[in-house]
Amino acid sequence: MTEYTDEDGGQIHKLVPFQGFNLIMGIHSPKEVDRIKNWEIQDSDVFVITYPKSGTIWLQQILSLIEARGDVTATQDKLTSERIPWIELTGSEKEFVSDPSPRLRVSHLQYKFMPLGLREGKGKVIYVARNPKDVLVSYYHFHNYAAMLETPKDFNDFYEKFMKGQVYGNCWFEHVKTWYSHRKEMNFLYITYEELIKDLRSAVEKICMFLGRNLNEEDLAGVVKHSMFTNMQCNPQANYTLISSSLLNHQRGSFMRKGTVGDWKNYFTVAQNERFDRVYQEKMRDVPLPFVWDIS
Ligand code: A3P
Repeated sequence: MTEYTDEDGGQIHKLVPFQGFNLIMGIHSPKEVDRIKNWEIQDSDVFVITYPKSGTIWLQQILSLIEARGDVTATQDKLTSERIPWIELTGSEKEFVSDPSPRLRVSHLQYKFMPLGLREGKGKVIYVARNPKDVLVSYYHFHNYAAMLETPKDFNDFYEKFMKGQVYGNCWFEHVKTWYSHRKEMNFLYITYEELIKDLRSAVEKICMFLGRNLNEEDLAGVVKHSMFTNMQCNPQANYTLISSSLLNHQRGSFMRKGTVGDWKNYFTVAQNERFDRVYQEKMRDVPLPFVWDIS
């Protein structure tokens, strides 16, 4: 078990390695995560998989709105993160078993923990990837205000931890590579944060088509409108401001932070960038990932 002491608050944060993957003590239970692979999967189940900070809440909002046919008022009775919950959170199994179809879920887990039924072509998986350099910056900020995570000493300290995979989600390269290399076993849609930024409407149409949901023009416009950054930023169901300050210290940051592409350029030194590129080339050599992140 890795113990981290937050120098500011004297709090102790723990990442618990389980089968080579870090879980967060207090919100995840190794025993329950281990059971996920045996969950019975229905064809209507949908799992959105992301490495942390890749736009999970964005997909949660988009899928919520697709189900509500673009009517945001129909999504206001629950937090977006509760409407489409994480499967790895302690206690999630009960709801999964009892919920009516379609069961929409998110997860940051590695491929090996997922329900085996997905490999038999049951259910659907949407994998969302984001430029790992922007992920790193977003995750750095998140660590500064998420109470259950270690507060980094500085950006360089966090950069090193991320490169070593000493965070929840572990190694970014491993996560995306493994999921992507198993795509043919599953009903799988690979989509990037950058595609969503570039053309949200086309991305939503692509997701609808994958899910087999037919939305008319007005419904589609509603989905797009209410999943735009500026609208989500002021939507309390989606912007995390209602989450308890014992989990997120709202004085120290905000979940809907910037929502842009290329923020890494404001943080990475030339040396950090060159090293990152070298590691990327080496680790991703065998994976022809269709990843376009330098969008104009
Ligand atoms: P930044 O910190 O770069 O702003 P996750 O939900 O996986 O933790 O991802 C959070 C990141 O997605 C944050 O990135 C957040 O701002 C961004 N995000 C969430 N909704 C978004 C939207 N509608 N448009 C653009 N970015 C969005």
